[in-house]
Amino acid sequence: MTSARAHLVLGIETSCDETAAAVVRRTVAPDGAVRGEILSNVVLSQVEEHAPYGGVVPEIAARAHVEHLDRLTAQALAEAGVGLGDLDGIAATSGPGLIGGVIVGLMTAKGLAFASGKPLIAVNHLEGHALTVRMTHGIPFPYLLLLVSGGHSQLLFVSGVGRFELLGSTVDDAVGEAFDKVAKLMNLGFPGGPALERTAERGDPKRFSLPRPMFGRAGCDFSFSGLKTAVRLTVEREKEKSGGLTEEDKADIAASFQATVAEVVADRVRHAMAMVKPEMGAGPCRLVVAGGVAANRALRARLDGEARTAGFELVVPPFGLCTDNGAMIAWAGAERLALGLVDGLDTAPRARWPLSSLQSPLSN
Ligand code: KG4
Ligand code: ZN
Repeated sequence: MTSARAHLVLGIETSCDETAAAVVRRTVAPDGAVRGEILSNVVLSQVEEHAPYGGVVPEIAARAHVEHLDRLTAQALAEAGVGLGDLDGIAATSGPGLIGGVIVGLMTAKGLAFASGKPLIAVNHLEGHALTVRMTHGIPFPYLLLLVSGGHSQLLFVSGVGRFELLGSTVDDAVGEAFDKVAKLMNLGFPGGPALERTAERGDPKRFSLPRPMFGRAGCDFSFSGLKTAVRLTVEREKEKSGGLTEEDKADIAASFQATVAEVVADRVRHAMAMVKPEMGAGPCRLVVAGGVAANRALRARLDGEARTAGFELVVPPFGLCTDNGAMIAWAGAERLALGLVDGLDTAPRARWPLSSLQSPLSN
């Protein structure tokens, strides 16, 4: 049985190119419904530091985290109107991610936990994305999760905190990575995903017919590298024809790529919904989309239609909580803390840490 009391948690996120800190309160109503309240959520994007290189440079990211994290953490506490002594726990991403950054965030959290005597919660970054909808929409377990970010493309059946059953994942590139690489091919700007989405708004998604890797195949695995190569060949062919890409060419290629990704992802999700429907129980069937690519409007619209057809409700966090932030880490920390799942100060940071390897010993 979960405790009815509130948990106030500070969350720190430094696994990629956002330095973030937030304070979140998790409460449980007498009927067992969970409620999340974001008291502060400070995110400092390093986009400008990495833009000249067209991608995230791990050393630059780690250094920037060191430079800004103390100040941002103090700011998150001040904006929430709380001191370290008011907290019930201190959570930090301890993987997976760029190891230099993860070390900065985890060590900072350990220092704060040691100094304040508060428990440390070592959070898996992917679990942060996976549980965000419980903070924003209060939805109960179980649900089907499509996790689409810069490093991951996975379909998971989520039956509790720490309880993830992997249904399918990418065999090569992650979907966000494919967006970023295709954007780079056409010099659309950095970060690539949002830039490509903006370019695609003006384009004709039917002009270029691109391959749809894995479409119609059994199971729920993804593949994007063949699609990325097909886009590269299309770009080269169009450049050869007219000596360069026009704005119209770029928009049409971006729109065709985005529509193809949406179609392939929708197909994989359709299979996953059919697989998990019998396990969903008596309540409503829910499809949750999380991770940075969940911010993509074309993908959301496509998945909304697909979910309705299958009798599922689509649930997506608000835009600002799709990409990396501290609130999702604070929330995942609070969910774990409520179950008594805390970590020792000897917890090691991890570059790799698959969600399906997380095991919560308690039922929830
Ligand atoms: O979850 P996230 O912030 O960081 C990781 O954990 O990877 O996801 C970042 C990824 C990047 O690949 C970015 O290009 C992609 O999410 N992304 C988008 C959009 N916004 C962010 N991809 C497509 N459309 C978007 N609007
Ligand atoms: Zn992320």
